[in-house]
Amino acid sequence: MITTAVILAAGQGTRMVSHLPKVLHPLLGKPLIYYSVEVAQQVTGEKPVVVVGYGAEAVQNALGDRAHYVVQQPQLGTGHAMQQVEPILRGQSDLILVITADMPLLSVETLGNLVAASQSHSDPITMLSVFDEDARGFGRVVRGAQGEIRAIVEEAQATPEQLAIRELNPSIYCFRQEWLWEALAKIPVSRKGEYYLTEVVGIAVSDGIAIHSIRVADPVETIGINTRIHLAEAEAILRRRVNEAWMLAGVTVIDPLTTTIEPDVTIGKDTVIWPNCHLRGNTVVGENCEIGPNTIIQDSQVGNCCKIFTSVLDRAIMEDDVDVGPFANLRKGAYLCQGVHMGNFGEVKNSRLGPGTKMGHFSYIGDATIGSRTNIGAGTITCNYDGEKKNPTEIGSEVFVGSDTMLVAPVKVGEGAHTGAGAVVTKDIPPYTLAVGVPARVIRKLEKRD
Ligand code: UD1
Ligand code: CA
Repeated sequence: MITTAVILAAGQGTRMVSHLPKVLHPLLGKPLIYYSVEVAQQVTGEKPVVVVGYGAEAVQNALGDRAHYVVQQPQLGTGHAMQQVEPILRGQSDLILVITADMPLLSVETLGNLVAASQSHSDPITMLSVFDEDARGFGRVVRGAQGEIRAIVEEAQATPEQLAIRELNPSIYCFRQEWLWEALAKIPVSRKGEYYLTEVVGIAVSDGIAIHSIRVADPVETIGINTRIHLAEAEAILRRRVNEAWMLAGVTVIDPLTTTIEPDVTIGKDTVIWPNCHLRGNTVVGENCEIGPNTIIQDSQVGNCCKIFTSVLDRAIMEDDVDVGPFANLRKGAYLCQGVHMGNFGEVKNSRLGPGTKMGHFSYIGDATIGSRTNIGAGTITCNYDGEKKNPTEIGSEVFVGSDTMLVAPVKVGEGAHTGAGAVVTKDIPPYTLAVGVPARVIRKLEKRD
């Protein structure tokens, strides 16, 4: 039996008070709608259909080919949104799973139960229902004497007795497709000129059709995002879910409340994450590392047994046994080979530091290639920008760069060379020579060590 999910995402989300469509507000680093698309794909095994309207182009750009799209213009309610889907889905799918893009915490398990229940009988509607003290403006599920579902009543239309009902409609349904299209066509127009999907429940009831429901075990799953307050609540829950999964997978998270690990990040066993760390994007962290406190790692790769103390990494790569910080800034293209040590207040951009190289204090290395076991003295700067373009610096292996050396690129420092403190290097320095002064000149040859 083929099931296709339809994700309703055409509304503006006025209560977000934003220029950005609601479904593009980030939640744990991903646009809100990403979560619905992900769960829909997993439950049905099919690409979902997303109904877009407000900010349609931006929503489509954010999701790309992860979904099919239908444009709803103007937006005349959830029932009207479903009517737009008919031309592309009629006859293409046995069951239609309808979810809204603003419920990012729905689990694969819950939606899987809904679809399984729908497959187990031949009636056209199976819906989720949730019991919660906080009604959050949801429609109420009205039941008859035998416990059968009689109606869904919107909060605005509910009587005081109906308002007291604690069984709520999260507006997540699984429909038999042939029936759905006929029912959608019968939805009456509301006083506001809109067509509400909830009306199909009333249509089924008046046709004597039984409505099936599946209870959501944890009400948290149906938190719908209508305001930025809801967004923060959802973020906290999602953050906890992700952190707990990593803890169960062998990662120590010292303070989960202040630790943010985005969904695509991976972390190896026995790594310890200190408080206030943010691991973002496609970051990969190996085993046995110590991260933080106060560290931000974006789209970077960290090997095994690394220590990153109060530092920032963005699109950087570290092999094993590297230690950096405090206050290291690794920018795009920083590549630190095995055993590199980078101490406080260093910045590395688009540069490779060879195995065992040390740069202890206050240095800027940009557009440079550095060999193995070289020592970069405190305050060393690659002067890589001449006001027009970026120029490369090459430093060999086992070089000793004296404190406060300025390397005016393009320039090369040969293997085993030394520079004196405060040298301003404007010309290449041959291997195994000592250069000093401003501008630096070679003053003697050095013995090659074994
Ligand atoms: C809806 C339900 C309500 C339920 C609640 C749960 C209806 C009439 N009411 O109300 O019973 O308790 O969800 O959250 O369905 N959308 C479109 N096109 C439109 C209008 C909305 O795609 O023309 C999308 C929105 O982008 C949103 C979703 O449908 O993702 C829900 O719309 P919203 O206006 O938030 O419905 P509620 O008032 O919350
Ligand atoms: Ca809503």
